[in-house]
Amino acid sequence: MRILLFGKNGQLGWELQRTLACLGNISAYDFPEVDFTKPEYLRPIIDQIGPTLIINAAAYTDVDQAEREPEKAYLINATSVGVMAEEAHRRKIPLIHFSTDYVFDGAKGALYTEEDTPRPINVYGQSKLEGEKGITQAGGDYLIFRTSWVYSLRKGGFVNKVLEWSRQKKTLRVVDDQIANPTWARMLAEITAHIIGPDMGSIRDHPGLYHLAGSGFTSRYNWAKSILELDSRRNEQVCEKLQPAKTSDFPTLAQRPLFSALDCQLFLNSFGTQLPDWEDALKLAMEQ
Ligand SMILES: NC(=O)c1ccc[n+]([C@@H]2O[C@H](COP(=O)([O-])OP(=O)(O)OC[C@H]3O[C@@H](n4cnc5c(N)ncnc54)[C@H](OP(=O)(O)O)[C@@H]3O)[C@@H](O)[C@H]2O)c1
Repeated sequence: MRILLFGKNGQLGWELQRTLACLGNISAYDFPEVDFTKPEYLRPIIDQIGPTLIINAAAYTDVDQAEREPEKAYLINATSVGVMAEEAHRRKIPLIHFSTDYVFDGAKGALYTEEDTPRPINVYGQSKLEGEKGITQAGGDYLIFRTSWVYSLRKGGFVNKVLEWSRQKKTLRVVDDQIANPTWARMLAEITAHIIGPDMGSIRDHPGLYHLAGSGFTSRYNWAKSILELDSRRNEQVCEKLQPAKTSDFPTLAQRPLFSALDCQLFLNSFGTQLPDWEDALKLAMEQ
């Protein structure tokens, strides 16, 4: 298997590069070697590698900044993804791509299934939805995994932010009205490798769009509470109080869906596996 991986330095891409290593030969790229704002350069790279599988973990993920530079967000999250999908289809090779719970408006008040109509409320969500459409229009053997609240202990992300704040502030205020599924990047990478398997058989048997995120759901506030409790260096925390707050207390450029938790039953029914409970995964992620 010759795997072409985009986004190798991101939270998910970094893990994918490692978990996919047993499956074949990987050519992995990230910005600036490959710049998705210049989609015209994608085809020559794909030609040069001649992959048997393309995996895209690259994305424009800065939700607030996307409101300031929508053209860039669309080039990265939609136009380039469309080019990749056309190339994968032309070569008759599978494409695996990741999308987001932010394609929904969060107003349903219950878990979102793949049957629900997306209604993004910010540029990031709109551009990711356009990326999904580019893939479905191209057709072929694709897997789109919509995931949510991806974190890694390696760099950036919510878990590291909470740990950092806990060492700087006596009181932490975290919103309790944003609810979704925390998803450990490593587990998402591992389940992706598992689905690919040695012969990609289950991709060819069950192509399509799936929700794939940590099992269960929680608020950002509860997630932060668990992070503080599981911190192996709790003695370094100066934080004395964790207070629940509302999204409206922290005005941001981009509006965020409030309840965007994903129902991952279709993935379980199709592939016979699922991501573990978000809290069990967090314990494993934070174990030293
Ligand atoms: N993070 C979340 O909470 C979350 C939630 C739901 C869905 N997702 C989806 O899950 C996937 C993985 O997310 P992640 O958290 O691993 O993302 P990430 O850590 O932000 O990684 C994205 C990667 O894409 C690269 N990239 C940015 N601009 C690029 C460009 N112009 N050309 C080529 N590469 C570029 C980034 O490079 P730089 O670092 O140099 O910019 C980075 O290495 C994405 O599809 C994302 O939309 C994420």
